[in-house]
Amino acid sequence: PHITIVLGTRPEIIKLAPIIRACEARSTSYSVIHTGQHYSKNLNEVFFDQLELPQPDYNLAVGSASHGEQTGEMIIGIEEILLEEGTDVVLVQGDTNSVLAGTIAATKLDCEVGHVEAGLRSFDRDMPEEKNRVLTDHAADYLFAPTEQSEALLLEEGLPKDRIYVTGNTVVDAVHQNRELASQKSSVLEEFGLNDTEYGLLTAHRAENVDEKNTFMNLLEGVERVGEELGVEFLYPIHPRARGQLEEFGLQIPEHTQIIPPQDYLDFLQLQSNAKVILTDSGGVQEEACVLNVPCVTLRENTERPETLDVGANCLAGTAPHEIVETTNMMIQTERGWENPFGDGTTAKMILQTIIQSQQQEAV
Ligand code: UD1
Ligand code: UDP
Repeated sequence: PHITIVLGTRPEIIKLAPIIRACEARSTSYSVIHTGQHYSKNLNEVFFDQLELPQPDYNLAVGSASHGEQTGEMIIGIEEILLEEGTDVVLVQGDTNSVLAGTIAATKLDCEVGHVEAGLRSFDRDMPEEKNRVLTDHAADYLFAPTEQSEALLLEEGLPKDRIYVTGNTVVDAVHQNRELASQKSSVLEEFGLNDTEYGLLTAHRAENVDEKNTFMNLLEGVERVGEELGVEFLYPIHPRARGQLEEFGLQIPEHTQIIPPQDYLDFLQLQSNAKVILTDSGGVQEEACVLNVPCVTLRENTERPETLDVGANCLAGTAPHEIVETTNMMIQTERGWENPFGDGTTAKMILQTIIQSQQQEAV
């Protein structure tokens, strides 16, 4: 079969890299369409270089725009390529607009859709990501659910069991493939003078947190108070959306926090691995913290990764300053050593094997 992988943002590049590697290793016929949703060097190119991925076969260079315009332009571009290529299966990962566009373009043609990271639900319909996930899962032919919990959510929505495959999450493959390399190659700790320092790592970029002035202000105040009351100095690799909003609202950079540019994967893994605690609203970072055995505080009211809460690796704090301080205080003292619920790092191989086998059966 010919597989077309559609990706467009930082987390998709990171989490689809193990699948691209698996395709290379098996000499599978595949191509990669980059939608161009992320285009800044440090959200995009740097990951292709560092993860040694072949350049995408196509780049739609769609860039930033409103949801409708961005998604619409992607659909037009993807459809054209799928028709030309005679694709059998389109693979998408996660919950971004690039995922929805790949899904819609494929499902309207004679292509099957595989959704990597199916069955995640925050049950928060205000999040654009939640709508993208639900729509994608309901259109997909292969639902690659990371855990049995995500499988159960899909079944509750009436999706048929024979479309669901519990595979773990490719984030574990990515961490396993790069953690050693990060500790050998990255000099980020020296660069920021953190060798013997106990520091916290912060990421916050989600629209519902940074697009509203009061929420973003509260979140930053919470981090500042953690610095003051718990004596933790933070590093904040800032996403361009958050940087833009910080400037637009004229917000102060909190005390005890150093803002730095988005980091490449090895440096960011190294920063995560050695952090005392991670404060984040990112989906991927909640998972990676769990895999790396570092306590995580999620700056949201809900999470579509409840497995991380269940094993005690993560705790929800929302954005109220006192909640951020209390939750961080608790997580700093928590016992580490939980089991990672997202698989053993062979997810990419399992996904590829499933697709190839099932396509061969269909062909008979
Ligand atoms: C998108 C995803 C989000 C994911 C995140 C990963 C959607 C709806 N959102 O959010 O789920 O967590 O990617 O990082 O798909 N910008 C740049 N350079 C870039 C890309 C964006 O400067 O390369 C700036 C632009 O000002 C742009 C803003 O960031 O308007 C937001 O970009 P966009 O792709 O719309 O959403 P993200 O916040 O990146
Ligand atoms: N990440 C990175 N550099 C950074 C911040 C994050 O390499 O400065 C990686 C992180 O390790 C994870 C992914 O980006 O694999 C998470 O992406 P993001 O938070 O942008 O999106 P989300 O997972 O929330 O959709």
